[in-house]
Amino acid sequence: MRNRIEALKKEKNAVIMAHYYAPAEAQEIADFVGDSFYLAKVAKESDADVIVFCGVNFMGESAKILCPDKKVLMPDLSADCPMAHMVKEGKIDEMRERFSDLAVVCYINSTAELKCQSDVCVTSSNAVKIVRALPNKNIFFIPDRNLGRFVASEVPEKNIILNDGCCPIHADVSAVSVKAEVEKHPDALVLCHPECEPEILEFSDFSGSTAEIIDFAKKSDKKEFIICTEEGVAFKLRNDNPEKNFYFPSPCPVCKDMKLNTLENILKVLENDENQVEVSADTRTGALLPLDRMLELGK
Ligand code: 13P
Ligand code: SF4
Repeated sequence: MRNRIEALKKEKNAVIMAHYYAPAEAQEIADFVGDSFYLAKVAKESDADVIVFCGVNFMGESAKILCPDKKVLMPDLSADCPMAHMVKEGKIDEMRERFSDLAVVCYINSTAELKCQSDVCVTSSNAVKIVRALPNKNIFFIPDRNLGRFVASEVPEKNIILNDGCCPIHADVSAVSVKAEVEKHPDALVLCHPECEPEILEFSDFSGSTAEIIDFAKKSDKKEFIICTEEGVAFKLRNDNPEKNFYFPSPCPVCKDMKLNTLENILKVLENDENQVEVSADTRTGALLPLDRMLELGK
């Protein structure tokens, strides 16, 4: 399968992009592996004709919005992020009516329709920087209440209104299970994704995006880490640091949608140009603005 994928990549001028939560076999064969911000930037800058995006729908959709002339293929179109839909209809309008200077800040983990109603997109690696740079005092942060709360703690000068959405995988990481790991490995540092609940962030030594967690572990002189995010990051962590140990809270956080990016599915879509991501012209125009603003402010 690997040889066939490599040959098809050359033949079609295709690149494979994979998020750190994709299965190891996808990360291994990908040309670019990274967090959501990195992948959006790379998609925009790529001169490939075809992008096979091993992630979930909002990632493929963002790539298509940023590069409408490229074919964007998803190994499985049913790979969706439940949090991407978690804003109640009418909520954004209601907030805009209530606060005249409101900025709607939209985590990139959201549908294109939600992006269309937003002023700027952010990812977990640039949310603090971008919110701080906005001229608006009142911010409606959608859809993730946990990342929103994290941003609010870092940017206290803003009034951040939270929305009641969350990532079910990160929200399931319990303080009890993390504490159990801390007891087993008292020298380990706790590194967590800001999509985790606030009590996890409170006793973490570091919170950041997947790429930031990976970078932190590499630069640290510590040898043991408890990782509070989806288990896909273990592939890069263990490859980069064979001398270090990485533990996950139990049950290990697994995003089943990300795991649909199998080698078999990658080959299938490359062979038949199947599972193309489509975005209507109107949606693209509306969603491009906040995405471009993110790329500009996040530089
Ligand atoms: P990052 O890789 O940007 O930290 O995103 C985490 C995530 O949940 C993606 O689905
Ligand atoms: Fe969505 Fe959570 Fe899966 Fe990321 S880990 S894609 S936020 S469900």
